[in-house]
Amino acid sequence: MQDVTDLAFMGLVARRSPPDFFVTEYFRVYAGSRLDPEILRSITENDTGRPVFAQLIGESIPECCRIIGELYRYAIAGIDLNLGCPAPRVYRKQVGGGLLREPEVVDRLLGSLREAIPTRFTVKMRLGFEDTRHFETLIGLMAKHCVDQVTIHGRTVRDRYQGPVQYGLIGEAVARLPCPVLVNGDVISPMQAVRVQQQTGAAGVMIGRGAVRNPWIFGQIRQVLGGDIPKPVPLSEVYTYIRELYGVIARPGSTELNRVNALKKYLNFIGLGLDGDGAFLRQVRPVKTQEQLWQVCDQFLTGDRVLPWEPSPPSVSTSALISV
Ligand SMILES: Cc1cc2nc3c(=O)[nH]c(=O)nc-3n(C[C@H](O)[C@H](O)[C@H](O)COP(=O)(O)O)c2cc1C
Repeated sequence: MQDVTDLAFMGLVARRSPPDFFVTEYFRVYAGSRLDPEILRSITENDTGRPVFAQLIGESIPECCRIIGELYRYAIAGIDLNLGCPAPRVYRKQVGGGLLREPEVVDRLLGSLREAIPTRFTVKMRLGFEDTRHFETLIGLMAKHCVDQVTIHGRTVRDRYQGPVQYGLIGEAVARLPCPVLVNGDVISPMQAVRVQQQTGAAGVMIGRGAVRNPWIFGQIRQVLGGDIPKPVPLSEVYTYIRELYGVIARPGSTELNRVNALKKYLNFIGLGLDGDGAFLRQVRPVKTQEQLWQVCDQFLTGDRVLPWEPSPPSVSTSALISV
């Protein structure tokens, strides 16, 4: 996740419950692009004990092949192609989710990347651009080019992050594809992760925002799969996690206000469901100093309460979210 799941974040998750693998933030590929040094650190300094895939976003075949050559100087598990980013400034350049409008372009890109990638080639995609009219064709292309794994966020680009996730269509892709399919979108609790995996027949789940909110989720999923009842996390541990995050997000030269604002990006996800009506997020929104921030945390993140498995509906309201 861009600007969220960097090296420091990967470390915090891995110390709590490592996923089977990580995927970097995307490397933007265009004429003359260089490997972003900060993103590269999540490969060169990866000490999580888990493999990391390098994600690319781009459409130029020669440029993607050049960057792939550069990435294979480092210890990557493979290359993941982003076919899902819904940010208008990205898809307007006909990359990420924008490519889902043009299956012929995807066909050529997948064919060339398959030849250029010596190890595992994976794809992260959505159901389509504005609707699902090309979904079947796109899934056929994944099979044609022997992609090693496909992760499907069960929404269109136009849906962005709103509306129901169409797990049924992901199930159809699972039935058609010879490679493993990972189900993605709105997985928030370990029980639900196992439920959607079973419902779709997918090989696994990819979790984004749910893992920022609950970095213990991968271990909890393993507990559910093992037939155990997962252990909920005390809010005091969530507080420790937030303090650790604050400690690692500093960039050279960043001010206290920069750090507080950077932390709010994570708190948007962590804060969901901490209390019944979004009061935590509302109170965090105006804070400007770490002292004010810890005052709000002291109020909400102590005592015997545990992190609820799922946010209750009122606290999911976007009106409580912090714009950063
Ligand atoms: C802030 C943010 C940044 C994201 N950056 C990326 C990215 O760089 N690459 C990618 O494949 N998906 C990215 N995504 C999409 C997520 O990987 C995921 O597909 C989406 O959030 C749905 O899954 P979730 O409900 O588990 O978060 C991003 C999502 C968010 C909210």
